[in-house]
Amino acid sequence: MKNSNRRAFIGNSAKAGVATLIALPALGAFIESCGTAKSTTGPGSNKLKTGFDQQPLPYAYNALEPWIDTLTMDIHYNKHAAAYSKNVKEAAAAENVDITKPLEDVLYNISKYSVKMRNNGGGHYNHELFWKCLQANATAQPTGKLLTAIIKHFGSLDEMKKQFSEAAKTRFGSGWAWLLVTNDKKLVVSSTPNQDNPLMNIADVKGFPLFGLDVWEHAYYLKYQNRRADYVDNFWKILNWNYIAERFNSI
Ligand SMILES: [Fe+2]
Repeated sequence: MKNSNRRAFIGNSAKAGVATLIALPALGAFIESCGTAKSTTGPGSNKLKTGFDQQPLPYAYNALEPWIDTLTMDIHYNKHAAAYSKNVKEAAAAENVDITKPLEDVLYNISKYSVKMRNNGGGHYNHELFWKCLQANATAQPTGKLLTAIIKHFGSLDEMKKQFSEAAKTRFGSGWAWLLVTNDKKLVVSSTPNQDNPLMNIADVKGFPLFGLDVWEHAYYLKYQNRRADYVDNFWKILNWNYIAERFNSI
């Protein structure tokens, strides 16, 4: 399909406002059928797909002070996240995965792969997403269609934040909290253990993650020690709502 036609289609869908949510399943399949996402299934534009290499951190290690401290960011990015990228590429080599294609292709069918692929593929995807969803000098809240959708599905922004925070604070052990668009196009909160995520076919709640919060102790322990709740509460001060809206608007 020509880009102009595709833009027109998406533009017309956007005009439908909240009603767009109802059309999202068809929209995801439509975009895929246009040839722009030939190698993948599932929602999200090609621009938002994830490669196997670790991308540069989009800000300085100290950019998110005081909410995320410099040493934690340095170790988190250069040690923990870097290891997931290295290990998922090892798993891909062992399991004949083409790493020129998006990592999402593997995650959608993760039950067919090894535990090493699941842990490190998830770990790499989750961290690549996490860095992009954070920023210094963040705006306080989303706007536009994303805010409209949050209010439609949760009643209010505060209610969404309350449910998300609860999911993050109560995830036992290590894992992630998510705001996602489910496969039947509802905005919901979920949490996953370890490095699982909503893209995986083994997830209890499947869909396209808009943002996630890492609640592994490596993400906060140097600054917050056992006070995970304080880390979660401060997370709202550094969210990159523009990027999150870009993800929402891509499906
Ligand atoms: Fe992490």
